[in-house]
Amino acid sequence: MTEIKQEQLMNILKSVSHPGKGVDIVSLGMVQGLAIRDGEVSFALNINPAEAEMMEQVRKKCDAKLGAIAGISKVVSVLTAQRDPAKEIPAMQSPTKGAGPLKNARKIPGVKHVIAVASGKGGVGKSTTAVNLALALQSLGLKAGIFDVDIYGPSIPMLLGVDEQPGQDENKKILPIIKYGLASMSLGYMMKQDTATIWRGPMVMGAVKQMTTDTRWDADGELDVLVLDLPPGTGDVQLTLAQTIDMDGAIVVSTPQDIALIDARKGLDMFQKTDTEVFGIIENMSYFLCPSCGERSDIFGHGGAREVAARLGVDFLGEIPLHMDIRETSDSGTPIVAHAPDSPHSAIYIDIARRIAEKLRSQKNYE
Ligand SMILES: Nc1ncnc2c1ncn2[C@@H]1O[C@H](COP(=O)(O)OP(=O)(O)O)[C@@H](O)[C@H]1O
Ligand SMILES: [Mg+2]
Repeated sequence: MTEIKQEQLMNILKSVSHPGKGVDIVSLGMVQGLAIRDGEVSFALNINPAEAEMMEQVRKKCDAKLGAIAGISKVVSVLTAQRDPAKEIPAMQSPTKGAGPLKNARKIPGVKHVIAVASGKGGVGKSTTAVNLALALQSLGLKAGIFDVDIYGPSIPMLLGVDEQPGQDENKKILPIIKYGLASMSLGYMMKQDTATIWRGPMVMGAVKQMTTDTRWDADGELDVLVLDLPPGTGDVQLTLAQTIDMDGAIVVSTPQDIALIDARKGLDMFQKTDTEVFGIIENMSYFLCPSCGERSDIFGHGGAREVAARLGVDFLGEIPLHMDIRETSDSGTPIVAHAPDSPHSAIYIDIARRIAEKLRSQKNYE
C-alpha cells in the first residue's frame, strides 16, 4: 500500500468550497492541524461561529471525501473558532437571548442521568473527584460513564491512563473508550499530540457539541449516570455548556483555601438559571492525613466549604483528604476507586456517591 501524504489530503480538501464565499476551504486557511497516522486522519476546521450550522455540513462533506480514500480507516474532524473576547461563543449563546426559557439543553442520547462536576478554579481536584465519583457510582451498581468537557485542560485521558483514540460504529458514531468498566469520552482523545496546541487555544465548542450528539454512550448498554467534568470557573463557557447539555444535578468541588475565592453564589446562579439542581459542595484536599502516623491535621483550616454550603442553603456532600495515594493513583492513570476499592479513601468517594445517587433517585423524573 502506498503511503498517503498530507499533501494528497490537502488537495482533496481543496475541492470543498465555503458555501457562502465560493472559495475552497484550504485557500481560506480554514483547515488546521491536519495529521495522519496509521490511516487515521484528524484535522480542525476553523470557522466563524455564526456559520456553525452551515460549516457542520462542510465538515461532514470533508469527512466523507477523506473517508472514501483507500487506506483511510477513520476521519476525526472538529469545528473550532478563534476566541473573540467581545462575544464568547455567539453561535451557541442564543438561548440567553429573547424571552424564551433559558434552557435549550438536549438530552444526551443513551444516557439516563447527567451529573456535572464544577469548580471555581482549576487545580482543585475537580477531575480527580469526577473520575473517582464515576467509579464509585459504578461500584454501587449503576452503569456509569465520564464525559470530559473541560475544553481548557482535558485530563481524563491521563487520569484513566488512556492513550488510544475512540473507534466508530458502522454509522460513524463515536464509540466511548471503556476503562475500568467506565465508558469515557474526552476532547483529549480527539486531539493528537501535534494538533493539541492548535486546538487548545481556539474554542472547541463545536467539538463538544459533536461529541455530545455523536457519542454512542449506550454502545455497551444504556448508562444510568454520566459524570461531566466541566471546565473550571463559572463564566460564559460553563453557562453555555449548562444550556447545551441537559444536566440533572451539579456538584461543586472546592479546596478549603479557595472556597472563599470562588464566587459560589455566581456558580449556583448559573445552575439555577438552567434549572439544574445543585446537589451540593465537596471539600477536596480538606485535611492532611500523615502517611506514617495517621494523624489528621487541618493544614488549610478545613471546614470552609461546609460553612459556605450552609450559608448558601445547599448540602455539604463530604470531605476528601489531601493524600499522596490519591495523587499518585490519579497521576498514574489508575484512580484510587479502581486501584484500591477497599481503601479508606475509596470509602469516602463511595459514601459521597451514595449521597448523590440518593439525590438522583429523589428527583421527580427519576426512572
Ligand atoms: N485529594 C487529593 N489528594 C492529593 N492530591 C490530589 C487530590 N485531589 C487531586 N489531587 C491532585 O491534584 C492535582 C490536580 O487535580 P485535578 O483533578 O487534575 O484538578 P482539576 O481538574 O481541578 O484541575 C493532580 O495532580 C491530582 O492528582
Ligand atoms: Mg481537570
